[in-house]
Amino acid sequence: MADGYYEDEAPLQGFRLSSFRRVLAFGRPYLGVFVLVIVIALVVAGFEIGLPLVFAQVIDAADTGDAERAWLMMPIYAFLVAVLVAAIMAFINLVGGVSARVAHDIRRDSFDRLQDLEFGYFDVRPTGWLMSRLTSDCNKIARIMGWATLDLAWGSATILVVAVVLFLNDFVLASIVMGTVPLLAVAGRWFQVRLLETARLVRKTNSRVTATYNESILGVRTTKTLVQEDNNARDFEAVSARMMNESMAHALYGAAFMPTIGVICSLGVAGALWFGGDHVIAGVITIGILSMFMHFATFLQEPVKEMARQLTMIQSAQASAERITDLLETEPKIRDSEAVLERIAAYGGDEPGLACDGLPNHIRRVRFEGVTFGYKPDRPVLHDFSLAVEPGQTIALVGPTGGGKSTIVSLLCRFYEPTHGRILIDEHDVQDRSLSWYQSRLGIVLQQPHLFTGTVAENIRYGRLDASDDAVAEAAALVRADAFIDRLKDGYQTQVGSGGVLLSTGQKQLIALARAVIADPEIFVMDEATSSVDTETERLIQDAIERVLEKRIAFVIAHRLSTIRSADRILVIQNGRMTESGRHEELLGQNGHYAQLYRDHLVSWDEMQRA
Ligand SMILES: Nc1ncnc2c1ncn2[C@@H]1O[C@H](COP(=O)(O)OP(=O)(O)OP(=O)(O)O)[C@@H](O)[C@H]1O
Ligand SMILES: [Mg+2]
Repeated sequence: MADGYYEDEAPLQGFRLSSFRRVLAFGRPYLGVFVLVIVIALVVAGFEIGLPLVFAQVIDAADTGDAERAWLMMPIYAFLVAVLVAAIMAFINLVGGVSARVAHDIRRDSFDRLQDLEFGYFDVRPTGWLMSRLTSDCNKIARIMGWATLDLAWGSATILVVAVVLFLNDFVLASIVMGTVPLLAVAGRWFQVRLLETARLVRKTNSRVTATYNESILGVRTTKTLVQEDNNARDFEAVSARMMNESMAHALYGAAFMPTIGVICSLGVAGALWFGGDHVIAGVITIGILSMFMHFATFLQEPVKEMARQLTMIQSAQASAERITDLLETEPKIRDSEAVLERIAAYGGDEPGLACDGLPNHIRRVRFEGVTFGYKPDRPVLHDFSLAVEPGQTIALVGPTGGGKSTIVSLLCRFYEPTHGRILIDEHDVQDRSLSWYQSRLGIVLQQPHLFTGTVAENIRYGRLDASDDAVAEAAALVRADAFIDRLKDGYQTQVGSGGVLLSTGQKQLIALARAVIADPEIFVMDEATSSVDTETERLIQDAIERVLEKRIAFVIAHRLSTIRSADRILVIQNGRMTESGRHEELLGQNGHYAQLYRDHLVSWDEMQRA
C-alpha cells in the first residue's frame, strides 16, 4: 500500500484559493442562501452595534435628567433584541441547512466517482482512508462553507461599522480602541494555529495509544507465550508520556489565550478611560459616549477572534479540499473509449440480438491472446497467457497460491486491463465493447461471497434489480438453494445480517450463486471456497454448479476434485505461466505438477470431505 495515505492531517500549509475551486462549485446551487446569510450577518452586526448606542442614550438621559428620552429607549431596546434573536435563529437554521445540503452533494458525487473507479484505485488506498474522504472531509468542507461565510461577513461588517461609529464620535479615542484590533488579530491567529496544531498532535498520539491497547489486548496470548510483557509496557509508556506532554502543551495554549486577549482589550479600555475623562470634561463627548467606547473596547475581541478562528479552519480544511478534488477529478482508467461511446450513441436501438453498442449480444467465444499483466506494469505476474473458450466449456484453474489464478479471472472480468496482449469477445477486443454490457453478461461468485444487509430475496435480486419474486425463487431453485431457504424462519424475507453473518458459508455461497445466475450470464466466474462445508451442502453446491455451468463459458478456480474432474480443461498456473493444460486423465498421464497435486492433496482432501 502506498505511503502517505495514512497521513490524514497534513500540517497547515500556505493558503491557496485554487485548492478550493472545485469544492466551492458545490456552493453555487445555493448561492441565494449564501447571499441571504450574508444579509442576515450584516443585520446582526448592525443591530448588535445599536445596543451600546441605546445604552449611551440612556446614560446621557440619566445624566441630564431627561426621563422621557430614557423611557423612549425601552421599546427601541426591545425591538433591537427581538430582531437579533430572530436573525440569530434564522442564520443558525439557514447555515445548518445549507451545510447539510452541500455535504450531501459532495458525498453523493464522491461516492458516484468511487463506484466508477477501477479495482486498481482501491488496491493502493486503505479502506479507512477512503471512508474519511466520504465522511470527515465532506463534512468539514460543508461546515466551513456555511459558518465561515457567516462569521467572516459578520466579523468584517462589525469591525467596519464600529470603526465608523467610533471615528465619527471622537478621533483620538477611536484611534486608541481600533488600535487594539491588529494586536487582537495577531494574537488570535497565533493562538488558533497553536491550538489547532497541538490538538492534532494529541489526536494522532491518541489513536496510536488506542492502537497499542488494541494490539496488546488482541495479542495478549502471543505476548504472554513469548514473554514480551516488559517490552510492550516500555513501548506503551513512551506513547502515553508523549500524549501527556502534548496534552499539557495544548492546555497551556488554551489557558494563555483568553488572558492575552483580555490584556490587549484592557489596553484599549485603559486608553479610552485615560483620554476619555479629559474629553468628557472638555465637553467633546458625553459620558454615555464614553461608556460606548469602553463597551466596544472589550466587544471588538469577539469578531476578531471569530475571524481568526475561521481563517485557521479554512486553512486547515485545505488538505480536505485537495483530497476531495483529487478524488472527484480522478478519471476511471477502465471505462468505455470514445469510439465505444460514439457507437453506443449512434446505435441507440434495442434489437433482441444486439447489445447497446450495436454488436452481437450473444457471446460465442472468449479468447486470451498473449496476455501479460502486472499490478505494477514493470512487475508482471502473468506472462503471455493464451486460451480460447466456447460456450458449454468449463475451465478449471489450479496451482499453487500466488500463481496468478485470480489475476486471470480479474482480467477476464475487466477489473484490470492487460499490460500487453488482448482479450477478445468473438472477434472484438473486449475494450471495444460496452463495459456495462460486458459486465452484465458476467456472473461472478467470489471465494468469500459478500452479502449485503437485507433479506435473502433482496440479496438474490441484487443480480438483476427488476427480477420478480418468481424469478428470484426460480434462480434459487436452479442452484438448489430453495430447500434451505424454505426452512429459514421467514423464508425469502429472512434477514441475512451484516455481511451475511447469520448464514453459514455454504448458505452464503448458494445465495451468491443464485444472485449470479439470476441475470442469466453467459460467462460464469467462480472462485471456489476452500473452507470446508458439510458433505450435504458440498453435494448441493456441486450439483448446483453443474446445472449453472451448462451452455455457459465458465472459469472456475477449483479446489474440489469433483469440480476439477468434470472440467473440460484444467489449467495449471504456476508463477504467472500456464505450465500444464488438458483433461484430468491427460494431466495424470503427463505425471507433472497436476499429478503430484492430485496424489498429495486433492485425493486426500476429497476423501476427507466424504468421511
Ligand atoms: N491487487 C494486487 N496488487 C498487487 N499485487 C497483487 C494483487 N493481487 C495479487 N497480486 C500478486 O499477483 C500474484 C498473483 O496473485 P493471484 O491472486 O492471481 O494468485 P492466485 O493464484 O489467485 O493465488 P491464491 O490461490 O492464493 O488465491 C501474486 O504474486 C500476488 O502477490
Ligand atoms: Mg486467488
